[in-house]
Amino acid sequence: MSAPAPILPALPRLSDRHRAMLQEMGVPVWWPSAEEAVGAGPAAQSDPAAKTERRPAAALNPVRPPVEPTRPTPNRPAATPATGAALDHPARLLPDLAALEAAVHDCSRCGLAQRRQRAVPGMGDPRPDWLIIGEAPGEEEDRQGLPFVGRAGQLLDRMLAAMGLTREHRVYIANVIKCRPPLNRNPDPVEIAQCSPYLLRQVELLQPKVIIAMGRFAAQTVLAEGGALSPEAARQWPLGKLRGQLHRVTLGGLTLPVVVTYHPAYLLRSPGEKAKAWADLCLALDTMDGLQPARAAV
Ligand code: URA
Repeated sequence: MSAPAPILPALPRLSDRHRAMLQEMGVPVWWPSAEEAVGAGPAAQSDPAAKTERRPAAALNPVRPPVEPTRPTPNRPAATPATGAALDHPARLLPDLAALEAAVHDCSRCGLAQRRQRAVPGMGDPRPDWLIIGEAPGEEEDRQGLPFVGRAGQLLDRMLAAMGLTREHRVYIANVIKCRPPLNRNPDPVEIAQCSPYLLRQVELLQPKVIIAMGRFAAQTVLAEGGALSPEAARQWPLGKLRGQLHRVTLGGLTLPVVVTYHPAYLLRSPGEKAKAWADLCLALDTMDGLQPARAAV
């Protein structure tokens, strides 16, 4: 008599999108599809570490309410900056993206202006679903005047490809700081206070549906300015505590979902964290999937 077929616990099934995302990001894809799982031994399925790393984002983030961004209405006041971003900053009055880009190229509100080759306002679809926010231009970005065009940018492109996106279509990429800090040092608080109003105005003008904040400075700026966290909490909480959950911010009269994840430059240094970034991107995709189509109504 042949042995009865083993009863296997239900395995989460990786969709093609999730598999592609893992592969693009350089995370080994071994989790079996449902068909492969039939032949898999129980040992392969009971590795707790593997389960933790590879379950889909929805399982890592059980509370995932559908989020609908609130579009600005004529009566809705703009959000009040929470971290002292200059209230009299001219960015608040810039009428459109072209004017904002010109103002960034002319800006000399902090010392970074003297050392830059080019300012880097941002690039992408002027009517994006996604706004990706990084920290500041590096050497290559400073040379080309474009965001994320160095090694970290190549990884970002692969992450976007894994999400089925490109940087030109449905995506806009911007940084908190528009000019390169010397030797790629961290931006200082004065630089952030002088430059972040440009980013906040970009959010207002672009009206994205979901924001992905990459790295500590992007997360701190967006979450504090958007009222999701106090400036102190945003400064003190490590990125590992901010990622893996959905935040909601109010910026420029829009209430928007924000997903925080690791900066691609950090992922290049710490490839072991890519699986967590993958989970964050899945959360972002799930969040976008859960949104009502709102743009047509604006
Ligand atoms: N890192 C960033 O945060 N932004 C860039 O544009 C490039 C590297």
